[in-house]
Amino acid sequence: MEAQSVDIIDIHSFGNMNDVVLSHLFWDAQLNFDSRTIEASAAWTIDNKNGADKLILDTENLTIKNVTLDKGHKTTFELMEADPVLGRALHIQIYPDTKNVVIEYETSPEASALQWLNPQQTAGKVHPFLLSQSQAIMARSWIPCMDGPGVRFTYDAKVTLDKDLMAVMSASNPTKKNDEGVYNFSMKQAIPSYLMAIAAGDIAFQGIGKNSGVYAEPSLVEAAAAEFEDIPQMITDAESLYGPYTWDRYDVIVLPPSFPFGGMENPRLTFATPTIIAGDKSLVALVAHELAHSWSGNLVTNSNWEDFWLNEGFTVYFEQRIMELLRGREYSEMLASLSYQGLLGEIAAITEDGRPGDTRLKVNLDGRHPDDTFSGIPYDKGYLFLRNVEEHVGRERFDGFLKTYFNTYAFKSMTTELFEELLEEHLIQGDEELAEKINLKGWIHTAGLPESHPIPVSSTFTELETLSDSFISSGDVSIIKDASEKWSSQEWQYFLTNLPDDLNLNLMSALDAEFNFTNSGNSEIAADWYELAIKRNYEEAFPAIEEFLIRVGRRKFLTPIYSEFAKTPGGLARAIQIYEKARPNYHSVSYNTIDKVLGLVE
Ligand code: BES
Ligand code: ZN
Repeated sequence: MEAQSVDIIDIHSFGNMNDVVLSHLFWDAQLNFDSRTIEASAAWTIDNKNGADKLILDTENLTIKNVTLDKGHKTTFELMEADPVLGRALHIQIYPDTKNVVIEYETSPEASALQWLNPQQTAGKVHPFLLSQSQAIMARSWIPCMDGPGVRFTYDAKVTLDKDLMAVMSASNPTKKNDEGVYNFSMKQAIPSYLMAIAAGDIAFQGIGKNSGVYAEPSLVEAAAAEFEDIPQMITDAESLYGPYTWDRYDVIVLPPSFPFGGMENPRLTFATPTIIAGDKSLVALVAHELAHSWSGNLVTNSNWEDFWLNEGFTVYFEQRIMELLRGREYSEMLASLSYQGLLGEIAAITEDGRPGDTRLKVNLDGRHPDDTFSGIPYDKGYLFLRNVEEHVGRERFDGFLKTYFNTYAFKSMTTELFEELLEEHLIQGDEELAEKINLKGWIHTAGLPESHPIPVSSTFTELETLSDSFISSGDVSIIKDASEKWSSQEWQYFLTNLPDDLNLNLMSALDAEFNFTNSGNSEIAADWYELAIKRNYEEAFPAIEEFLIRVGRRKFLTPIYSEFAKTPGGLARAIQIYEKARPNYHSVSYNTIDKVLGLVE
């Protein structure tokens, strides 16, 4: 395979990336927790390869104070009119030989990427906390940059903050606080802006093996290290599949519960929700997922957000391969079954919502924010498509192809079209029968699911169904009592999500009395139960649901719970009451979604 480069067309960035190359950023920043702002300078090393007279960067809600070129030469700049989706383009006058552009600026307390937590939102309750989430197009709210996945740069940073806090970034990181409150960072491999990340607070570190470890608030770090003890094995397994891990260290930071995602693949430092710490390692497939992004996404990167399935579909496929090596085929088939079940539900829901086009792998984002099409489709349909290819060409050949693919396209952009070409050239090779089975068009450019598709089968789930059926028909909890003592989190999820919606309230109470789902320490089980509780109006669970919604800001849990409430007028009223208390604890990613779910905005 020989690397081909693709033209970068990105409707979500104003950046003039085809004229000016950004190669390196030096970011010098002061974090101000009192005003919830960052005062910073971004010094860009550029190559004005076409002699452009302007550098155009993306910004959102930034106050630009001053811009200079090279050795402090003044220049002119203009912040253009704000676009509701894209923010404001920053036009800076440059010259054919300009090498350096330094922008002094300040972020807004409302910066969409940043969440400033008060001490009450942390485990320690004493110190404030800052976390960022840049993907997809929010890096521009804290760094003026060409904010599209097709632009890559290296960076160094110097961050100054309160002396009793520590900062970490998607870069080489400190492991201890220092007396100065100044930290230096370096990311020597070129990354796109959506992987720029920072967290700061009362943070401690504990190693897990030689090249990995975990950051968390001091009271959580030990439990986190125990939960994630399989990380070194995951890295070994991942490398055995698709080649060396190229980012040096792999650490995870466990953030406060308001972090809006389960995990985010910030290079060298995965950002993770504490809701995956179940105490029994049952939810660590999420770490395998973020680790897998070190290849699919962080090395080979979707060229723009319409190709997002290339990042996530490959990563789910890779995640399941890691979990198969770590826990066995039956375990990964349970994950695949849950993913398949979720996929059928999502396709139905999105189609019913009148957006069947959003169930294609390659989506059309014209005039839309990338988050508008966020769903399980790029993940679970992308996974199933790749599994379909694997099943038709054979695992060995497919693995060989993927390994070469990650190696050849490392630190490069990938488009859906180029990927299709590579499949044709290296795997299909003119074999018409195979082409029909792989069915690129049906999977990638057609709504829904091709009629012929792999169906994951888990014998564990099949057995569980028999038990569950007799429980439902008899109403006798003792039928599942003994067997369920050995159930994994995945089995519980399968059990709960396949209970009939009209399960009577006596059975709900009986289940809860036996298994205490309402107070489950496993967030996946609790969230599935809460959905059912709202559907069945099982009021006993409502105080716990309220507490959960106020404490946890992970959108994947919030959306189904609030949506379920919103289905009835009484439920909606209750949800709005809870939301008034909960909303201030959420990151913009979550409150922007829930505002819509509750009909508070268009
Ligand atoms: N990169 C995503 C999170 C993301 C996607 C953030 C799009 C912003 C825009 C991350 O890798 C992810 O997929 N996280 C999942 C977990 C995973 C196991 C499916 C999540 O947060 O739930
Ligand atoms: Zn992902």
